[in-house]
Amino acid sequence: MCGIVGYIGDKEAYPILINGLKRLEYRGYDSAGIALINSQTNTYKVKGKVSDLEKFVQGKDISGKIGIGHTRWATHGEPNDANAHPHASSKGNFIVIHNGIIENYSTLKETLIKNGYTFKSDTDTEVLANLIEYIYEGEGISAEDAVRYALQEVSGAYALVVVAKDEQDKLIAARKGSPLVIGIGEGEYFLASDATPIIEHTKSVIYLNDLDVAVITKHELNLKTLKNDKITPKVQKLDLEIGEIEKGGFDHFMLKEIFEQPQTITNTLRGRISADLKDIHHGGISGVIPQLVAAKRLIIIACGTSWHAGLVGEYIFEEFARLPVEVEYASEFRYRNPVIYKDDVVIAISQSGETADTLAAINLAKRSGALVLGVCNVVGSSISRETDAGIYTYAGPEIGVASTKAFTSQVTALTFLALMIAHRRETIKQEDYERIIAAMVEIPKKIEALLQNNDQFKKIAALYKDADNFLYLGRGYFFPVALEGALKLKEISYIHAEGYPAAEMKHGPIALIDEKMPVVVIAAKDKSYEKIVSNIQEVKARKGIVIAIVTEGDTVIKKMADHVLEIPHTEDVLAPILAVIPLQLLSYHIAVLRGCNVDQPRNLAKSVTVE
Ligand code: G6P
Repeated sequence: MCGIVGYIGDKEAYPILINGLKRLEYRGYDSAGIALINSQTNTYKVKGKVSDLEKFVQGKDISGKIGIGHTRWATHGEPNDANAHPHASSKGNFIVIHNGIIENYSTLKETLIKNGYTFKSDTDTEVLANLIEYIYEGEGISAEDAVRYALQEVSGAYALVVVAKDEQDKLIAARKGSPLVIGIGEGEYFLASDATPIIEHTKSVIYLNDLDVAVITKHELNLKTLKNDKITPKVQKLDLEIGEIEKGGFDHFMLKEIFEQPQTITNTLRGRISADLKDIHHGGISGVIPQLVAAKRLIIIACGTSWHAGLVGEYIFEEFARLPVEVEYASEFRYRNPVIYKDDVVIAISQSGETADTLAAINLAKRSGALVLGVCNVVGSSISRETDAGIYTYAGPEIGVASTKAFTSQVTALTFLALMIAHRRETIKQEDYERIIAAMVEIPKKIEALLQNNDQFKKIAALYKDADNFLYLGRGYFFPVALEGALKLKEISYIHAEGYPAAEMKHGPIALIDEKMPVVVIAAKDKSYEKIVSNIQEVKARKGIVIAIVTEGDTVIKKMADHVLEIPHTEDVLAPILAVIPLQLLSYHIAVLRGCNVDQPRNLAKSVTVE
């Protein structure tokens, strides 16, 4: 989703801003722009990639030691040059970049038009630029006042950076609902939507909170509330290395991240399993264990792949902790007037920790008095700060839009949380608890072994890369894995795919099966094994092509499926973590063979900061 960068200091801003925009490309975008402040302001913006912007500015004046840059993911108005940011106000007094949605923009626009304002774009951001200017034209108002007053008029979400023509020595930044980070250098400041453009310059950062306004000159940062009360900034140190956000020899971030999974799962587990492998501990939630143990119900809220992780969590919590679980799309939950009791525990799952609907659902749950936990990957993200307590997954930066390592880390975290709660609730036998813990620490090695079969996944991808549709089937723990496999394929290869509970196939999808339909069946050995074998036969009877994910050594399915992809044997509850990996690689190779932009698929955003 939209990316923001800003620089103020003694260096030339252009290379810093362009490099920053490239770091933010992974968020997903369709146009890019930049404004450089010298004695005058030069604004350049184009539909397309940051590389198109670089070509566009060739031979033009790109000097300036203050500047702002933006990658836009279209919400109001199609992707084109005019709608790209930065946006200037009608009389050119203000230039604005913005991530978010100004919900009351059409009412504000009508008022501004009545007052003589004109618009060059269809965006809500230009409305904001003009609103700031309209207020500024009042008596004795500073640029900062104008921004603060304007923001009091708008409803919706924003992270924004403003440059005022009359006060060109400063950047004015604010946030509500969309993320913004300020990097603190020596006589210079950096601004960005997340820390990835900042780490190569400084590790000292301030995460803006909702309704904070920062006024930044190269020597000074003043932080205030929207109501003009001073705030003492909380400076934090980034725990992030530059290598973590580079491809490190892989063709794509997605492939790198798939191959990182042995390490990322090790990181998720680190410090959480006792040395004798007999117990699970978790510092971040130790204070709320009594509430978790006493909970009557869990509500899991998430979006996208994180929602699939939540579904796996549902099966595990119900099986072991004997807790009823509801898994909700955050976007539905928040608008549905849901029933939430004080003794419910709500778990919000989010890789980015910034998904707008998940954040809104958290706030709703908090108002009802329920305990709200977060399972987040990005340290310091909004969701990790809004929740009462939580678990970091520590999978490291996930740059590929299609979530891979974040998913397996989320499932790992939910699994150990469910087992720990089951143990404290005494709903799991000690021997089962210890056996599963021992198996859990073996998972990274098993993933390593599984990744050795990459060439096999690639060969199968080559056979089916031109299919128009795929079906993914699974039962029990593997049903959410089927959903995730289908989502991965859709996202990056644009092949239509559906995930279904295998038994439910008979109630509709079976009508689609013919000799052209690849059906990926997750059929590892577990308690549903016999049933899934029958489902495979049903597919074969209709001439479907079966690609089966099986436990190594399986001989039964080998005889009936067109292809088998083996995963190592493990405890049933841990098998989803292994089973999803062949599906990730299958999608990856199909997308690459189809010539798709794997890391930045069309229309998708990594972090969905608008509702
Ligand atoms: C976007 C991303 C998905 C992600 C979803 C939820 O759609 O493209 O990969 O699963 O948002 O994001 P979150 O950061 O909350 O997990």
